[in-house]
Amino acid sequence: MSRTTTRGLRTKKRKGEKITMMTAYDCLFARIVDQAGIDIILVGDSLGNVVQGRETTLPVTLDEMIYHTSIVVRSTEKAMVVADMPFMSFQISPEDALRNAGRVMKESGAEAVKLEGGLPMAETIARLTTAGIPVMGHVGLTPQSVHQLGGYRVQGKKQKAAERLIADACAVQDAGAFGVVLECVPAELSARVTGKLKIPTIGIGAGVHCDGQVLVLYDLLGLTGSETPKFVKRYAELGSAAAEALGLFVDEVRSEKYPSDEHSY
Ligand code: KIV
Repeated sequence: MSRTTTRGLRTKKRKGEKITMMTAYDCLFARIVDQAGIDIILVGDSLGNVVQGRETTLPVTLDEMIYHTSIVVRSTEKAMVVADMPFMSFQISPEDALRNAGRVMKESGAEAVKLEGGLPMAETIARLTTAGIPVMGHVGLTPQSVHQLGGYRVQGKKQKAAERLIADACAVQDAGAFGVVLECVPAELSARVTGKLKIPTIGIGAGVHCDGQVLVLYDLLGLTGSETPKFVKRYAELGSAAAEALGLFVDEVRSEKYPSDEHSY
C-alpha cells in the first residue's frame, strides 16, 4: 500500500475530510500509529522533551532527528513521515537549510520536513520546495522560540498579533508549503486561517475548525506527567498502567511468586 501523499492531503481538504497526524519516535509506537490509520507521522523535535527528558526542544540535533526518523520510516508503510528540522538547522540561511533538509531526506527516507516560522522563513521554504523537498510550515506557538515568546502561551489573541499570524500562514503557503501546523491559536482565528488557505491546516491547541489535528503521542496515551496543556486529551492512562505492572513485578519477585512453574523450564 502506498503512503499518504501531499496530493492526497489536498484532496482531503477539498472534500472536507479531516486529517490525522501523530508524533512517533521509535519502531514499536510508529507501527501502532501506522496501523491505526493515522495519515501523517511527525517525528517531532518534541522528542527532546518526551524521549530525552529535556526542558525545551532547543538541544535536539540534526543527527538525532535523522536517527529517529529513519527508525520510523522503516517501521511504517502507510503514513507520510514528516521530520522536524531542529533548532538552528534551517535558520542560518536558505542554503544551509537546503543542505540540512537534503540530509534528512536522503539519510532518513522521510517524505517531507517541517520547520517553524512564518513570513521570515518564506525564502527558506521556497528554496527547499523548488529543490523538490516538501515542506510543512508551523506558525503560532513555535516551541523553538520559547525564550523569545516568553513561555508556552496562546498566540494571536490581540488583533495585531492575529493579523500577523494570518500573514505568516499565507506566506508559508505562498512559499510552497503543502500544509501548516497551527499551534496554540484561538479557535476563531484558526477557523479564519483555515478558510483562507488552500493548503491544509493541522491544529494543536487550535480548536476544531482546522483541517486536521495533531498531538504528541505520549500525551494522548497518558505517558507524560499530569501537568499537560489544556488542549491535550488523554485517551488512555498507560503511564499508571505501566507503574502498576512494574509494582506487581517487584512484589512477585520479592515474594518468589514469579517465576512460577508456568514461566520456568
Ligand atoms: O515537535 C512536535 O511534536 C511538534 C508538534 C507539537 C506539532 O512540532
